Amino acid sequence: MVRAGLFRLDPEVAHHLSLSVLRLAERVGLLRLAYPADELVAPVEVLGLRFPNRIGLAAGMDKAGDTIDGFGRLGFGSLEIGTFTPRAQPGNPKPRLFRLVEHEAIINRMGFNNAGIGAGVANARRVKSFDGVLGFNIGKNKDTPNDAAAADYLECLRQAYPVADYIAVNLSSPNTPGLRELQGPEACARLLETLKREQETLAATHGKRVPLLFKVAPDLDESHIRELSAVFVAGGLDGLIATNTTLDRDLVAGHLRAAEAGGLSGRPEFAKSTAVLQAFASHLGGRIPIIGVGGISSLEDARAKLRAGATLVQVYTAFIYQGPGLIRQLARELA
Ligand SMILES: Cc1cc2nc3c(=O)[nH]c(=O)nc-3n(C[C@H](O)[C@H](O)[C@H](O)COP(=O)(O)O)c2cc1C
Repeated sequence: MVRAGLFRLDPEVAHHLSLSVLRLAERVGLLRLAYPADELVAPVEVLGLRFPNRIGLAAGMDKAGDTIDGFGRLGFGSLEIGTFTPRAQPGNPKPRLFRLVEHEAIINRMGFNNAGIGAGVANARRVKSFDGVLGFNIGKNKDTPNDAAAADYLECLRQAYPVADYIAVNLSSPNTPGLRELQGPEACARLLETLKREQETLAATHGKRVPLLFKVAPDLDESHIRELSAVFVAGGLDGLIATNTTLDRDLVAGHLRAAEAGGLSGRPEFAKSTAVLQAFASHLGGRIPIIGVGGISSLEDARAKLRAGATLVQVYTAFIYQGPGLIRQLARELA
């Protein structure tokens, strides 16, 4: 019933309304009653962190990090907030978010609408009840040219470092022009080296080592995956998030919305995203842990991501279609 009501609204209005309700329900104690912290704890040690369970919320749902306690209450062991850029920016013109209900899919071209890294850090400092793992996903401002992108990532890294449990470097949004060029092996190696050097400095300053993860696209061929894997191992990357949304429209061909520009997520993305995860896993040979994301819409899908080489999984689109029941089922069954 809730879904039927929300799906009558414009997708972005429904999104903001849902997050407002979640914040309110948490504030008045309703979520604590409805979702007691129970058997959803099955801790996994990865990246030097203790994840309460294997299910995380993927980036882009809580873009501001202002609903952390609410999402945490639904059973997620980890939350990735953002993407944050150094300066606040409005993102692309609306409409920029489309449901493809028949496919349990979404096409989005949000374009990193966000309140800026400073606001994200301030929100994270206000967290009351969430005691899972908090990741900060970082990107570059739209008007920052690629040859100055490293400065944007460095700025976000420095600000997020004291409050983040991990940092996810987003190289793979299709909605910031040129961003995916940073996945070129040379550009990627340079960026990784710069960020790793800063990580060492920050670790000494703050007395804690916050792992650095790169988030990649599913639109990569085998030789590209091989080259990137070598770059990641040589550069000492701590973890990989595979994958972001896809530009591929084959699986939704013929749909009214198939030609909308942006990234496709949800059920149709599963096979492609999982194949890319598996290819990375085979090249990385267990040297770098992987978070599997892209098209998980059932327990079977989550298990397939783990079999393909992921240690943890994240969900976004299926949460829109199936709600918190799915998250609790995944958390419980993957224990
Ligand atoms: C509306 C929307 C916004 C997103 N925003 C971001 C983002 O800001 N940063 C990011 O790294 N990924 C973003 N993503 C990608 C998701 O984190 C995830 O990688 C992708 O949707 C695949 O997972 P899914 O099939 O479970 O949705 C977004 C996805 C959607 C649908």
